[in-house]
Amino acid sequence: MLTAHVVYATMTGNNEEVAKIVCDALAKHDVQVTETEISQTDIDDFVQADILVVCAYTYDEGAMPEEGLDFYDDLQDADLRGKVYGVAGSGDKFYGEFFNATVDHFDEAFKEAGATAGAEKVKIDLEPYEEDVERLNKFADGLVETAKHLSA
Ligand SMILES: Cc1cc2nc3c(=O)[nH]c(=O)nc-3n(C[C@H](O)[C@H](O)[C@H](O)COP(=O)(O)O)c2cc1C
Repeated sequence: MLTAHVVYATMTGNNEEVAKIVCDALAKHDVQVTETEISQTDIDDFVQADILVVCAYTYDEGAMPEEGLDFYDDLQDADLRGKVYGVAGSGDKFYGEFFNATVDHFDEAFKEAGATAGAEKVKIDLEPYEEDVERLNKFADGLVETAKHLSA
């Protein structure tokens, strides 16, 4: 059975909701899912799963969540070859070029650590609406498909 670990960072709940949608979609594929808040997540536990997902907000014009910086540093030092990853997030289009900058930073960190992208990153504007749920369902489909392919 495939396993997934979904980590979220949230202040007002949007990214927790994004994470929940991804968890539900993965569970529908019979993936065994663990979900944790970023500051409560040990990188050594996180990297045990086959599918690694981060859902996190952006603050202060492109800043990453402060409570997630240790996790981010540890992720950059990890060896994630053979792992499948995906990054999704809720930000605010109002911030223009900084829209969901955190999603880009985590995407880069996973790539640098040697992980395989299972799906294109998903950037959501504020709370997830119906079309965002669709995008996140497809995101989860991609993660599972890629993980099955890698483990075959
Ligand atoms: C002071 C402040 C700065 C923000 N800066 C950004 C930003 O640079 N880029 C972005 O995409 N969103 C930015 N946001 C918007 C949040 O990322 C957005 O509201 C997000 O949905 C919050 O997620 P959460 O509900 O999980 O905390 C900012 C919000 C606040 C209050």
